[in-house]
Amino acid sequence: MNYIQPAHRIAGFKPYFFATLNQKINELKKKGVSIIRLDMGSPDLPPTDEIIDVMVKNARDPHQHGYSAIGGTPQFRQACADYYLKRFNVKLDPAKEILALVGSKEGVFNLSQVILNPGDISLVPDPGYPAYREGGRIAGAELYDMPLLPENGFLPDLKAIPDDILKKAKILWLNYPNNPTGAVAPLSFFEEVVRFAHDHQILIAHDAPYTDICFGGYVAPSILQVDGAREVAVEFNSLSKTYNMAGWRIGMAVGNSDAIGYLNIYKSQMDSSQFNPLLAAGTHALTSDQEWIQERNDIYLERRDIVVKGLAASGFQVDTPDAAIYVWAHLPKGITDSTAFCTRLLEETGVSLTPGVVYGQHGEGFIRISLGTATTEVKQALEHIQAWMKKA
Ligand SMILES: Cc1ncc(COP(=O)(O)O)c(C=O)c1O
Repeated sequence: MNYIQPAHRIAGFKPYFFATLNQKINELKKKGVSIIRLDMGSPDLPPTDEIIDVMVKNARDPHQHGYSAIGGTPQFRQACADYYLKRFNVKLDPAKEILALVGSKEGVFNLSQVILNPGDISLVPDPGYPAYREGGRIAGAELYDMPLLPENGFLPDLKAIPDDILKKAKILWLNYPNNPTGAVAPLSFFEEVVRFAHDHQILIAHDAPYTDICFGGYVAPSILQVDGAREVAVEFNSLSKTYNMAGWRIGMAVGNSDAIGYLNIYKSQMDSSQFNPLLAAGTHALTSDQEWIQERNDIYLERRDIVVKGLAASGFQVDTPDAAIYVWAHLPKGITDSTAFCTRLLEETGVSLTPGVVYGQHGEGFIRISLGTATTEVKQALEHIQAWMKKA
């Protein structure tokens, strides 16, 4: 008899979509299928040599191998403060308003654990990054979906949230530039959100890992630029996409000092911070010359245009995103099931995309293409898709 059973909390938990997809892709590779991955948002390019050199130099120092400071080294927190001041003109207190994270996904997931009680409501975007939803589920909270619709520019309609939901709502999740839709939010929307949060006593959690991947002169704002935001908002930021450091697992939570304080206590029991040389390299990334980011963004821009053009030629309805590393496209007329579409495409062409439904029911009918793959492969993939769609 198998007496090892999961806790009720995780019994309904499914593995992360990309964990399952990786398995499937490995099986196809074993059968000799050549795969082009435009699914996960993992940058293919490395950080600068300088960032890597700082990591290596520190790793060679025998004194850098002990436990690091809980919540991140003072130098790293200061670097986050310097970055926010320079990039957004937002002044933060490194001791109380900044916390290092083991990648922003960790902090996003754990914020729900420190704020939500069973029965509380978490307002989540649909489509949206899965950790908002799954973090809330583990906390025993109820989830209320805020549809992100093309006709509203993929912004949630706050006025459509019923009063009885608002009474129980504790967190409202936002994410701009947005994954998966690539949509951006104007500062005026953040002003509306901050007023809304004050009125309804809700914590805003703004997840902002794509603020530095912008195209055509667009500059993404931080919600903390809004007056009164730090009283009601915490913002998550990440070195994963800005500096091509996704595997390094370095992020930050900034803003509301109460929320940051609870997260810090929770994390002090759960993890023991990060490897000092990683934080030293992160410190360097945040405070050194940022010029190279524009050049890197130009590479994404070229890929974006290849994808948008290729998809439009194959009958997809597609907008051109101003930011982030995704193209979000509606399937051509007559095709409705995004999972079936992506599965067939993968099996028959080796091109891997993400079905929109992975991000929620309002993502059904869409697919997401990541730009984090070499430009030659992106071109090839779009050629394969076009040829395959013609045959189908
Ligand atoms: C919206 C969003 N939030 C958070 C993350 C997690 O980033 P990190 O690598 O910092 O954990 C991602 C990664 O794809 C993301 O798209």
